[in-house]
Amino acid sequence: MNSEVHSAPVSSANAQDSSNAATIAAQDHQFEDKDIATVPGHWLLARLGRRVLRPGGLALTQAMLNKAHLDNADVCEFAPGIGRTAEEIIAHKPHSYVGIDRNADVVDIVNNIVRDYGEVRLANAQDTHLPAESVDVVVGEAILSMQSDEDKLAIMKEAFRVLRPGGHYALHELGLEPDSLDETIKNDIRTDVSRAIKVNARPATKHEWLALLEQAGFQFEWSEAAPMLLMEPERVMADEGKERARVIMHNMATIPGAKERVMEMKQTFGKYREYLRGIAFVVRKPL
Ligand SMILES: C[S@@+](CC[C@H](N)C(=O)[O-])C[C@H]1O[C@@H](n2cnc3c(N)ncnc32)[C@H](O)[C@@H]1O
Repeated sequence: MNSEVHSAPVSSANAQDSSNAATIAAQDHQFEDKDIATVPGHWLLARLGRRVLRPGGLALTQAMLNKAHLDNADVCEFAPGIGRTAEEIIAHKPHSYVGIDRNADVVDIVNNIVRDYGEVRLANAQDTHLPAESVDVVVGEAILSMQSDEDKLAIMKEAFRVLRPGGHYALHELGLEPDSLDETIKNDIRTDVSRAIKVNARPATKHEWLALLEQAGFQFEWSEAAPMLLMEPERVMADEGKERARVIMHNMATIPGAKERVMEMKQTFGKYREYLRGIAFVVRKPL
């Protein structure tokens, strides 16, 4: 398997609907446990059974999708990952779905979820190969926060290019508050979070996110923020349901090295709780 996704669970079933924790655990255990100490934080959490991998949780995703004009739309999702948001998008009954992810394993996993609406294609979100002005909505969660400002902007510009005039771009990323946050604290957060999650983390303030979106050509329509509680038990319960939360706890306790990684991430997010947020936007390509 591609190294970026070797820990992801393969189940396409909604865990909250599953009544059998043993089945969930068995599916997840089809994956190797190597490299637990070094995998990117999101794949570690996926390996433990977490399916909602974005900072503001499922509630912020749903609030964003409710504002994204998805009904009967041609939708493109950037970086569907293990497909949890794809499930939510499809629940809105879009006209069509195309996912763009650069990880080959993700393509197979998400194709099982979206097959009645479309497919996932292997490509970089900076260069999707989709025709210009071919979709009504672009959705992307937990992809930009891991990129430099230059790459964030390149992905936003690609969203702008593929959208029809009047189309919407919905994104959910790692935010920082307040807008006036001191640059030294911002740099400390970026360094410490990157160290804990083993991947470059470049969260930004609402003002900084909007400046980039406007630079890409978008007009602001909606935004909401939520506490960054990805590692907290109450958020795990709310996002994943009781059954899966129990499996996640079990996996954390039994997979060698998992607890140490989780504790490091939890402590880092806790240290900066005052400043870190999940932040979502819906912006519009002008007519
Ligand atoms: C943190 S997950 C986000 C998954 C999903 N959006 C979610 O919120 O659960 C990262 C995913 O982004 C994909 N990804 C990261 N950068 C990408 C890029 N530039 N183009 C396409 N996919 C990308 C990875 O392959 C991986 O599947």
